[in-house]
Amino acid sequence: MSEPEKPSPGGDANRRDFFNEVASVALGIAGLGAAVVTYRFLSPNVLFEPSPTFRAGNPDLFPVNSMTYLQDQQVYIVRTKEGFYAVSAVCTHLGCITQWKPEADQIACPCHGSKFRPDGTKIEGPAPRPLPHFAITLTAEGELMVDKLEVVKPSQILKV
Ligand code: FES
Repeated sequence: MSEPEKPSPGGDANRRDFFNEVASVALGIAGLGAAVVTYRFLSPNVLFEPSPTFRAGNPDLFPVNSMTYLQDQQVYIVRTKEGFYAVSAVCTHLGCITQWKPEADQIACPCHGSKFRPDGTKIEGPAPRPLPHFAITLTAEGELMVDKLEVVKPSQILKV
């Protein structure tokens, strides 16, 4: 007859400690997950975009009879003999970014073929409207300031 196995001293305690540690780790992971989810829920869901009002620089940076594309702002700064104006580079059809084609003296949309004159008037294509002009002024320091929130008539030219 074999002898029944004696419980080792402290065996239950070891098993209990093991399960306590597993439970503690599981609670820690769950708590960390809840903290991450709460932080993401409470942090603002904000899209940072450049300011619609911006300084374009000193007028001397723009030669007479030039068209300068400002990629960050998606705006053309046009300087003629008469003065300055700012034209949107965003196509009025479906919002593609147009490209200045100096060889054709046109602004062209790569998406569906709309074409515009340097002053934004439409030549051809599906665009329903000309490219809008934005207000352009001089700051007290003598820099060009463009406000994309203020659409102005194409005849409004900043004389410098
Ligand atoms: S988005 Fe420019 S022509 Fe369609």
